[in-house]
Amino acid sequence: MTRSVQVGVLGFGSVGTGVIKLLKQNHAQLLRRSGVDLKIAAIAVRNKRKDRAVRVNPKILTEDPFGIVKDPRIDIVIELLGGIHPAKRLVEEALKNGKYVVTANKELIAKHGYALFSLARRCGVDLYYEASVAGGIPIIRTLKVGFAPNRITDVVGIINGTTNFILSAMDQGRSYAEALAEAQARGFAEADPRDDVDGVDAAYKLAILASIAFQAKVRVEDVYRQGIRQVDPIDIEFARTLGYTVKLLARGSQTAQGISLKVHPTLIERTHPLANVSGVFNAVFIRGDFIGDAMLYGQGAGSEPTGAAVVSDVLDIVYSFGQNVTRRNLVTEYRHVRMLPRATTTAQFYARFELRDRPGVLARITHLLGRHHISVESIEQKLLPRQRAMLVLITHRTLERHMDQALLAIRRLPDVQACRACLRVGL
Ligand code: HSE
Repeated sequence: MTRSVQVGVLGFGSVGTGVIKLLKQNHAQLLRRSGVDLKIAAIAVRNKRKDRAVRVNPKILTEDPFGIVKDPRIDIVIELLGGIHPAKRLVEEALKNGKYVVTANKELIAKHGYALFSLARRCGVDLYYEASVAGGIPIIRTLKVGFAPNRITDVVGIINGTTNFILSAMDQGRSYAEALAEAQARGFAEADPRDDVDGVDAAYKLAILASIAFQAKVRVEDVYRQGIRQVDPIDIEFARTLGYTVKLLARGSQTAQGISLKVHPTLIERTHPLANVSGVFNAVFIRGDFIGDAMLYGQGAGSEPTGAAVVSDVLDIVYSFGQNVTRRNLVTEYRHVRMLPRATTTAQFYARFELRDRPGVLARITHLLGRHHISVESIEQKLLPRQRAMLVLITHRTLERHMDQALLAIRRLPDVQACRACLRVGL
């Protein structure tokens, strides 16, 4: 006899719609793959009367999410509300009531993951979160299982679709505001787009990826963050002429000294595979001691790809039922590892200054860079009206601390009007 598993869904927004659509549309395939009849027992919504993109029996809609997490008929709860309140309490209640939980909530996992995993362990169930990072790309399962034998040294990702969409559109000559408005209209921007453009969303996702890749206890505060607001079309234009494209990269590296975690706009050589990841697409580049380099690519946001990631977790749970092989998420030991302060890590830099075009100003800038142990790779100057000039330079790899100090000193030079941009270069 076919076993049926009852699923309760919290939230019927963009991802919820993808989940429900998939569970309905591919029901027969899911049944063949798992041998289980997945039934949607209830969906918690804010407004029962609202029109929905997928039709469901109105009787399964409820405005009481706490009713779902306590409902004894329900085996698996899918949390798609986002944010901390009331998602955290609902997930806790679901686990305490012996339910397996699937969530797409990166903020919840990044901030409270360890406490929730340990609660799940105590409750004899499990918490899955594949959809929390990179939408349709199965990066979490790949790191936990596929790449697990390796010592991972680098995780570098384009893991925010909205900023990638904006930067790609700016690369095509569109304005920042136009591109952001379109990303919002297409439904991949966060409710508050500041989380996207300031790199907060990418920082949550990097914290999650790094904790798995490096088996380390990572806090969101460990991630250095620079968003894309500072990226001016002028920098994108300069980058292009120098053979680069600008991407918001989230990068985690592990060395013998510790772990470094940074999210920042980066000039990437146009020939690198990550440079060709455009629009809402995401990609995660991994370097491991046995696999070497690998890259996963796919849609990082949106209703259907993210919905598919959620349902993949549901299947994973269902596969483990009755086989005593669950707790895949719980077997990871999160170690305390030294987090390297940003200033002690290295990077190559692109900097753009506005200057008064006076004799000796260039020499004074290069002198200050040299005094701070920074070597210049290339330098370019463009004359501006009213005896001013724009200076763009790219450094060799240097300690971030040295660049901080050099910029401070350069800004103080009387003929330097402003440092308009300081971006990092290369992987
Ligand atoms: N706002 C996110 C993005 C959605 O743009 O990637 C998926 O997490």
